[in-house]
Amino acid sequence: MLLFRKKIPATWLPKVLANLPAVLVDHAHLERKAATSALNLEKYRDLFPRVGELNAIAIEELQHFQLVLNLLKKRGIPFGQPYPSPWIAGLMKSVRNGVRHQVIDHLICCSLIEGRSCEKFQILAQRLSELDGELAVFYADLVESEGNHYATYLLMAKAIDETETNRRLSFFLDLDAKLIAEPNPLPMLH
Ligand SMILES: [Fe+2]
Ligand SMILES: [Fe+2]
Repeated sequence: MLLFRKKIPATWLPKVLANLPAVLVDHAHLERKAATSALNLEKYRDLFPRVGELNAIAIEELQHFQLVLNLLKKRGIPFGQPYPSPWIAGLMKSVRNGVRHQVIDHLICCSLIEGRSCEKFQILAQRLSELDGELAVFYADLVESEGNHYATYLLMAKAIDETETNRRLSFFLDLDAKLIAEPNPLPMLH
């Protein structure tokens, strides 16, 4: 189902496993930002008819945020500062501002972020099953939801303009392939 053109670098998983508390704090912020992204999409005229669906996604992401916060509390990990993701910033920088198709770029970026989260949560669920059963189940439970968000955003873009979505999707998949290969030593999911 996922369309990515480049695999997640081999350095990503060891980095995450060596820094789980910091990664969980980053994950909390990621869910918070996913909720605000769903709400931000509601500013586009083309998405006015989809505002109920976007609210539902925002609510789901807020619930994920709370689940991560509960996990932090249970593990005695203090909630902390967010760090910007160079990969997300790199994608968002290519959203064309002020054009009619800005909404399509924005939806594609949100879709790819959800898609990469889905992919990474799946990897974590598998790998953590031997190391941290509770966390493995936690990540496995999120996979389906993030996969649905990935598909929903992509379908929303295609419903606005399928040709333009396919054209821009190809551009953003190439950009993702380039950006994901760039080293990021920070203990974060993306
Ligand atoms: Fe989420
Ligand atoms: Fe999501």
